[in-house]
Amino acid sequence: MDKFLIRGGRQLKGKVSISGAKNSALPCMAAALLTPETVILHNVPYVRDLITQRRLLEDLGATVLTPELRTHKINAANVNVFEAPYHLVKTMRASVLVLGPLLARFGKAKVSLPGGCAIGLRPIDLHLKAFEAMGASIEIEAGNVVAEAPKGRLKGAEIYFEKVTVTGTENVMMAATLAEGKTVLLNAAREPEVSDLAELLNKMGARIKGAGTEKIEIEGVEGLSGAEHTIIPDRIETGTYIVAAAITGGEVEITNCQPKHLEAVISKLKETGVQIEELNPSTLFVKCDVENLRSKDVITEPYPCFPTDMQAQFMALMTQANGISKITETIFENRFIHAAELNRLGAKIEINGKTAIVYGKTKLSGAPVIASDLRASASLVIAALCASGETLIDRVYHIDRGYENVVNKLRSLGADIERITTSSVNFVEEAKIT
Ligand code: EPZ
Repeated sequence: MDKFLIRGGRQLKGKVSISGAKNSALPCMAAALLTPETVILHNVPYVRDLITQRRLLEDLGATVLTPELRTHKINAANVNVFEAPYHLVKTMRASVLVLGPLLARFGKAKVSLPGGCAIGLRPIDLHLKAFEAMGASIEIEAGNVVAEAPKGRLKGAEIYFEKVTVTGTENVMMAATLAEGKTVLLNAAREPEVSDLAELLNKMGARIKGAGTEKIEIEGVEGLSGAEHTIIPDRIETGTYIVAAAITGGEVEITNCQPKHLEAVISKLKETGVQIEELNPSTLFVKCDVENLRSKDVITEPYPCFPTDMQAQFMALMTQANGISKITETIFENRFIHAAELNRLGAKIEINGKTAIVYGKTKLSGAPVIASDLRASASLVIAALCASGETLIDRVYHIDRGYENVVNKLRSLGADIERITTSSVNFVEEAKIT
């Protein structure tokens, strides 16, 4: 397993360009299953999860061409397998996003139950309940969801999500595009990635209104065509680099981003004293006098509030703030694993159920630590950048899942970071990620 060796204490300075949003590219790739025509996606991030998604689509019988590194041409005309196997789903739970499209286009699908992950149980009961409301029969057989649409076609329905679920909204929205009649999604997720998917689907001929609000209406159509679409910038990668610049007291220009997709994050970081200026609609300038960083409380909630995917990064920053910060995680039941690793670096964080109390300011010093999930990895990298001495982060395959070219992007900003490859199977070379 690869490791990162980081020597902290250097201010990040310069420019960094943001890649396409992993959590938009994943459902958009799955949406290509809804049509026999070619779907072309631009600005697809070069990260492990999208390589997994590509393999999954190819296993189903689709063809995926990449004429350029970040352009995917997907054609699902010859899909003849309707099963997402456990060995893929267990490595990436977002594989469940093929369930809705397969069910809608072919009337059947068999997808391994994803199981939990480090941050929580991650059930998909709300996805399945919605498909049943649309007339699908859902059976659980040997750890697989076996779904069938009666007479091969789903029926539109009114669906209220008891909890806001991002991939649940996306999965059902995709299925509803080919259903008979109208589907209304209530308490739908409002994340920008949902809106980006809806934009692609409408380009394909779907009839979706209200994406980005809590009520989405979909008029089913007989069939969808191919389309071309550019994936939105990754708002969580953007927030991660803002925090990395801030914690090192640096000055960084962040390009190819979409500031309006992370207003809650920018607002909260400005409250702590981070200077964030919008130079133009796709560029932010970040500067921070880290000596005067102020502690602030935050609660994670569905979009447009402060995202759970920025909680770990914010926690790392608050270790350098003057005062006590209270961080409340309301989305996932086990998303504080990074706190213990941050404490190994010298932080003082106490966990009490859904709340973490960060006692700042603490001096961080390098140590060996272990990454547990994608955003926890980012949190450890951020802390290591400001810790004195060397930090060795193990299991960095987690970060490769969602951060493109992270070593080179940080090195180009002046960070002293290197990847130590220990495994014989070198994912980096395999995926050509550097
Ligand atoms: C998406 O996961 C993202 N992943 C996650 O990003 C993100 O953290 C999460 O949304 C919340 O914003 C992708 O988009 C691929 P949910 P998702 O369904 O859709 C419960 C990252 O770091 N729930 O919105 O799986 C669930 O347990 C990843 O990029 C049910 O109870 O999350 C959680 O408590 C991590 N039943 C809450 O809802 C269901 O059927 C929100 O989950 C579905 C969800």
